[in-house]
Amino acid sequence: MTEWTNSHHLSLTVTREGLTFPVSMGVSSLSLSALQLEIHRFLHPEERTALTGIAQHDYLLGRHAAKLAAFNFTGVAPAGIRIRPGVFGQPVLTCPGHSNVQVSIAHSGGSAMAVVFPESHPMAVDIEVLDADRFLPPLSPAESLLIASLPHTPEEQQFLLWTAREALSKVLRTGFTTDLELFNVKSVAVNGDFVISTFVHFLQYKAVSWIAGNMACSLVLPERSQVDIAALQTLTSRVS
Ligand SMILES: CC(C)(COP(=O)(O)OP(=O)(O)OC[C@H]1O[C@@H](n2cnc3c(N)ncnc32)[C@H](O)[C@@H]1OP(=O)(O)O)[C@@H](O)C(=O)NCCC(=O)NCCS
Repeated sequence: MTEWTNSHHLSLTVTREGLTFPVSMGVSSLSLSALQLEIHRFLHPEERTALTGIAQHDYLLGRHAAKLAAFNFTGVAPAGIRIRPGVFGQPVLTCPGHSNVQVSIAHSGGSAMAVVFPESHPMAVDIEVLDADRFLPPLSPAESLLIASLPHTPEEQQFLLWTAREALSKVLRTGFTTDLELFNVKSVAVNGDFVISTFVHFLQYKAVSWIAGNMACSLVLPERSQVDIAALQTLTSRVS
């Protein structure tokens, strides 16, 4: 599979017990200089940052991906939408004419992904560049057994599970401030290019995870909700 090369947004339909929820995703892999040229188009005045270097690039990538998704979701010009950190660092979206719209953001290795969703249907994303030198906390023996069944390299298996756990920590708004054991994965199942995981302690959620180029990606959503896997497939291949 190829890597993202630029930026993209995607409408996703999520269904649950006869209800349909509009969801929008955004990805961005623009360079820092390209993002800086576009800042006036997508950054709200209250989102200006004093960050520099890689931290600035990550921040702008995250906001760019989030604004692509939020514009697609609301139709409001990206610079009119504000995303500020809440008290736990969680992104809080405000948009004229819209209420109860939420966002989750992840950035890693020069790319970012975001999902915009209605408050009534909590979701979150995480992405991580596949990095053999990065230390990841050890898996439980049960998790190690589970991932060994996946048709991925050991490195991909580790990062797929890690992003599922990290996205769960975001949907809960805790991040990894609690015992990591709380985020343990209970089951994994393969569906085409995707891995569907459930959790030991948070039965109400599941993760849909996949590999895109050198990235592992996860989207966490309510367990009984169905996401349009065919639409999500777009995010496993190149965009331009
Ligand atoms: C939340 C957390 C899992 C994110 O993981 P990460 O590998 O650092 O970074 P990612 O790129 O995956 O995600 C970053 C995004 O997560 C979001 N985020 C941060 N805290 C969050 C929380 N509590 N809940 C949900 N989302 C959160 C933000 O949107 C952030 O991007 P932004 O700062 O550009 O808006 C991690 O930072 C964490 O565990 N935080 C809690 C503990 C901590 O370090 N707190 C520091 C502030 S006191």
